[in-house]
Amino acid sequence: QTIYLADYTPPAFLVEKVHLTFRLSPEKTRVLSKIEFRPNPASSSRTFFLHGENLRLIGAKIDGAAITPQVTAEGLTADVPDAPFTFEAEVEIDPAGNTALEGLYMSNGMYCTQCEAEGFRKITYYPDRPDVMSVFTVRIEGDMPVMLSNGNPVAEGDGWAEWHDPWPKPAYLFALVAGDLVNHADRFTTRSGRKVDLNIWVRPGDEGKCAFGMEALKKSMTWDEEVYGREYDLDLFNIVAVDDFNMGAMENKGLNIFNSSCVLASPETSTDANFERIEAIIAHEYFHNWTGNRITCRDWFQLCLKEGLTVYRDSEFTADMRSAPVKRIGDVIALRARQFREDNGPLAHPVRPESFVEINNFYTATVYEKGAELIGMLKRLVGDDAYGRALDLYFERHDGQACTIEDWLQVFEDATGRDLAQFKRWYTQAGTPRLRVSEDYEGGTYTLHFEQHTPPTPGQEVKDPRVIPIAVGLLGPNGDEIKETQLLEMTEARQSFTFDGLAAKPVPSILRDFSAPVILDRETSNEERAFLLAHDTDPFNKWEAGRALARNGLLAMIREGAAPDAAYLDAVHTMARDETLDPAFRALAHGLPSEDDLAQSLHDAGHTPDPQAIWEALETLRDARAVTMEATARALYDRHQVTAPYRPDPEQTGARALANAALAILTRRDGGAQAQAQYDAADNMTQQLAGLSCLLQAGKGAAAVQAFYEQWQHDRLVIDKWFSLQILQAAPQDTADTTARLTEHRDFTIRNPNRFRATLGALAMSPAGFHHASGKGYKTLADWLIALDPLNPQTTARMCSAFETWRRYDADRRALIAEQLDRILASPNLSRDTTEMVSRIRGG
Ligand code: ARG
Ligand code: ZN
Repeated sequence: QTIYLADYTPPAFLVEKVHLTFRLSPEKTRVLSKIEFRPNPASSSRTFFLHGENLRLIGAKIDGAAITPQVTAEGLTADVPDAPFTFEAEVEIDPAGNTALEGLYMSNGMYCTQCEAEGFRKITYYPDRPDVMSVFTVRIEGDMPVMLSNGNPVAEGDGWAEWHDPWPKPAYLFALVAGDLVNHADRFTTRSGRKVDLNIWVRPGDEGKCAFGMEALKKSMTWDEEVYGREYDLDLFNIVAVDDFNMGAMENKGLNIFNSSCVLASPETSTDANFERIEAIIAHEYFHNWTGNRITCRDWFQLCLKEGLTVYRDSEFTADMRSAPVKRIGDVIALRARQFREDNGPLAHPVRPESFVEINNFYTATVYEKGAELIGMLKRLVGDDAYGRALDLYFERHDGQACTIEDWLQVFEDATGRDLAQFKRWYTQAGTPRLRVSEDYEGGTYTLHFEQHTPPTPGQEVKDPRVIPIAVGLLGPNGDEIKETQLLEMTEARQSFTFDGLAAKPVPSILRDFSAPVILDRETSNEERAFLLAHDTDPFNKWEAGRALARNGLLAMIREGAAPDAAYLDAVHTMARDETLDPAFRALAHGLPSEDDLAQSLHDAGHTPDPQAIWEALETLRDARAVTMEATARALYDRHQVTAPYRPDPEQTGARALANAALAILTRRDGGAQAQAQYDAADNMTQQLAGLSCLLQAGKGAAAVQAFYEQWQHDRLVIDKWFSLQILQAAPQDTADTTARLTEHRDFTIRNPNRFRATLGALAMSPAGFHHASGKGYKTLADWLIALDPLNPQTTARMCSAFETWRRYDADRRALIAEQLDRILASPNLSRDTTEMVSRIRGG
């Protein structure tokens, strides 16, 4: 059944207060609810419907009198007074049998919840929609040493605890945790003087992995006060780490629940990349307290209202804590890899979708990452000051409300006087705009001609022109910047911009800082790219020029069997030695376009990508680079060794990233000798894993793989890396077999999403192996998705996106994939989640 945005109606009844009692028991938990309803004056309907799924109803009452409601698989209806009343129910649920990890479930003997988006209905009967906000009081009865819920503790005794959250909230922000947990405690004083107790709750044994997350939390709290003027609003802030979790983390009011991989960190077990990600996710969930919780979404079509804005805020935070250019480049790499891919395939949807079958399928790169890009564009268009005023107005006007994108844009219109009707198309139109650029120069006047075009996406044939902020700077022939960055505002399908008084034809630097999420299409020469790489003052475009140089050379190798491009080899070599550049930037500049990126580029140019040929071209280029850069790599490796005690800060992280990029180059020359030495000497996971990765790459990893397992078998999160790396580093013809072999390992389990993703997700992330002509990659993944679906539909459905690019490939591969998609669709009792995903991918 499809749900439409256009069908939204306000709730018939509002909830004043809710009181919940949990009698915990693994297989038979009782949930007693007492809910104070009142008719919603804004609704003409008096139909009383409460969501409820997989609940065993024991009894229900209205105003104290027993009733017999009509119950279906989706919920309950009953006759109710046309006046305020109290509804009570007692239901029984089975947390231990809840393998979907949605609602109340168990993870390693601990009770925990995940309610966003629609999991609360698996806990009790309730109007489970975000525009119903209410004050929750929760009593937990059970024999667990620690029992937590939202808000503040009000009372506790032997075997029970009671919690009260004074802030009205939708049910999706409800949380409960009970288990044998220990806390890493700290304190934070807000700028108005509120003393807040902070805790990170973990299983005994993980206490030593909380310090970094706690520092990140305190930094986030300070940053939100300083930058957005937002203070925390309770006396307690709890974070809990859970091993079995479908997503990254969840912003439940006052009780954030995290996938343990997104909060636990130590130098020995976590890489620099892990530390940075943890810092960002802690910030993200904390920032939701204002953008998500205090101001929430009216309905799930508005998901980007909280997610786009909160991702934007966490990226600003990371840019402030670390290097802004490095963050921006990393974000764009991820945006292109995930969101552009989505936007250019069968799963394309607007940032604000208009319909869905299962909302969990819309927690996507489009809603999150493109949603964040829209905030960035808005800020660029109105300017920093106006953005600040608009946000102040947003918080002031909408605190305590459940809002829409219209509310959000209205705030900007009111704060700036600007008409945002055209900007709104970014929210309603799917697809990545392509921006074609041409130029001319005559008599001192330089003109840039732009043409925008967005190809059709499923269900949206025709696209209207969007407003595109294009940041442009001009460089003179000798490399000086002759026009500083200025923002061109493109509003038409075709539009030209002129620059006067130029002594010579300039070199343009277009879309600086990636000022809009578009694909720039410009005929240009490798000389010009090399020139921008050497001279551009905009770090993003400097990197972009190098990336374009690499991509073009690779495409020529793949298409025409060309030799590795000398201009690229020379440019990347020069940059590697440029000690004025940040090591982290240089490490990024060493990265090559991904296999998937190249496949998409070939497809866009009208070619059928051959995944094996793409893989081989990358290998050839890496080998060639190792020949030209061997001595430089040796020097860089030695020069950027960190001797100070490990710190996951930007400086050390950058040095290690560059040294490890150099190690990968050296490994192609020394057969793994340096990698083995690094592996043996490593005292942190970044160095150890880089050593192991290089050894596997060189085909010398067998002993280290064994040793690594023995050293880390007690640590789930490290063993996840062990599973992934062996698959990611396998040669294409071995990827599927390696995956299959690892699924037989005694530490593999289908029940833990992290382990499942570490294994089957790694297969999907290895294009040449996944798309191996034998079809065994497709079959291995499909087998496991079919096995996972009855247990965990949400994670199954997400992982189906591995197939979303299938129409790019040749007829043989398309037939092999279609066969697997049809096989998944034909599985008995396939979940709504997976049915929706596979049908959309398979297409009409
Ligand atoms: N709101 C969470 C976050 O972005 C994500 C939770 C998504 N959960 C889900 N089942 N779809 O931080
Ligand atoms: Zn979020």
